[in-house]
Amino acid sequence: MSTNLQHLDPMEFASRDEIQALQLERMKWTLNHAYNNVPMYRRKFDQAGVHPNDFKEMRDLVKFPYTTKQDLRDNYPFDTFAVPMDQVVRIHASSGTTGRPTVVGYTQRDIDTWADIVARCLRAAGATDKDKIHVAYGYGLFTGGLGAHYGAERLGAAVIPMSGGQTEKQAQLILDFKPDVIMVTPSYCLTLIDELERKMGGDARNCSLRIGVFGAEPWSESLRSEIEERMGIKAMDIYGLSEVMGPGVAMECVEHQDGPTVWEDHFYPEIIDPDNGGVLADGESGELVFTTLTKEALPVIRYRTRDLTRLLPGITRNMRRLGKITGRSDDMLIIRGVNVFPSQIEEQIMKFEQLSPHYQLEVNRKGHLDTLAVRVELKEHSKTISNDLRCDICNDLRHRIKSMVGVTTKVSIANCGDIPRSEGKAQRVVDLRAHD
Ligand code: DLL
Repeated sequence: MSTNLQHLDPMEFASRDEIQALQLERMKWTLNHAYNNVPMYRRKFDQAGVHPNDFKEMRDLVKFPYTTKQDLRDNYPFDTFAVPMDQVVRIHASSGTTGRPTVVGYTQRDIDTWADIVARCLRAAGATDKDKIHVAYGYGLFTGGLGAHYGAERLGAAVIPMSGGQTEKQAQLILDFKPDVIMVTPSYCLTLIDELERKMGGDARNCSLRIGVFGAEPWSESLRSEIEERMGIKAMDIYGLSEVMGPGVAMECVEHQDGPTVWEDHFYPEIIDPDNGGVLADGESGELVFTTLTKEALPVIRYRTRDLTRLLPGITRNMRRLGKITGRSDDMLIIRGVNVFPSQIEEQIMKFEQLSPHYQLEVNRKGHLDTLAVRVELKEHSKTISNDLRCDICNDLRHRIKSMVGVTTKVSIANCGDIPRSEGKAQRVVDLRAHD
């Protein structure tokens, strides 16, 4: 256990037995709340032939049907809400690259719980009420900005509500206001680091920041090291999704920096086989599924996140941790039969000291075969290397990807600035295949 125990929520000291007893009680409440107040859940439970009274112990949960993003979309915009609109005080929506956005709602108590949980995350990351916290997650319908903001305020810190974008101004404010903590997507942080380095004579390590709270997209361990080194900070992983709450469902603790701890007093995690829906044992890799335990406006029952990971035993808390999220099952590319996640390619790119973390993957189709092209920029200080060395780097990266990931790629070096910079979640894959 950590040395600053007095700062933890009492629930963070709880034993496994205490956590499980609380989960059982809260799960019963949630199943009843969803069944009694959301016609979608009543229909789904009835169709599956189960009733909340059939839930007596945690192993009974498998009897209840999964919920998917499609279920939420089919009930657009508000038919998933379990309370009347006059009790809803906030609405967010996920961007959704295709189709309707997913709409989520919160009661005042949900907003309070969320703020408490994000404050807990910030303490776990090593932040205190003495800190200034710069929030560069987007404000608006996205849950990142306001979720981080309310948590930082609840911690008692001084919040700088910058939102995403306006990179030049953003970097200048970091230099002027001297925040201790930044909350931002890892890909946008890279854009900010480039700008800070420009302003600080090539070295951002002396900026005031001590801690970064990074999430909203998959990021590799190599990217973590790069950010930590170039900014001189501790880079901590925060996980969350709008359907389940927003940022803060799980958070890495500063003592181990080894996978986010799931706040199991509010969210019940399961790992399932994404193909047949069977529940897998702790330690096995599969799709992460969550049931909320305290949400009033939008309870979700066995919600399939599409995120691929595994559940690991707790280290500093008795709550379980998530392994690194390798990617989402819907981000997975299948190139000539090989499953590829952008984060695997990123891991290989980061092995080259001349290559920057700015990259994009292009998927195309030649005849019946899919092809994968990797475009990556050189680092600022390597821009003048010879053409021969460029060719060698491309060949080496191609070989590395082939041997480590198993897929044949075409690698090219893009001109500096050609890869679009992220201001929020990075778009790593460009799909150029003609869709019928
Ligand atoms: O991205 C909430 C959030 C905001 C989390 C800020 C952390 C920080 P959505 O837009 O609904 O919500 O997207 C959720 O983003 O299912 C994962 O695929 C991905 N994701 C979120 N955090 C992480 C992470 C917010 N730490 C989706 N590592 C999730 C990997 C993450 N992927």
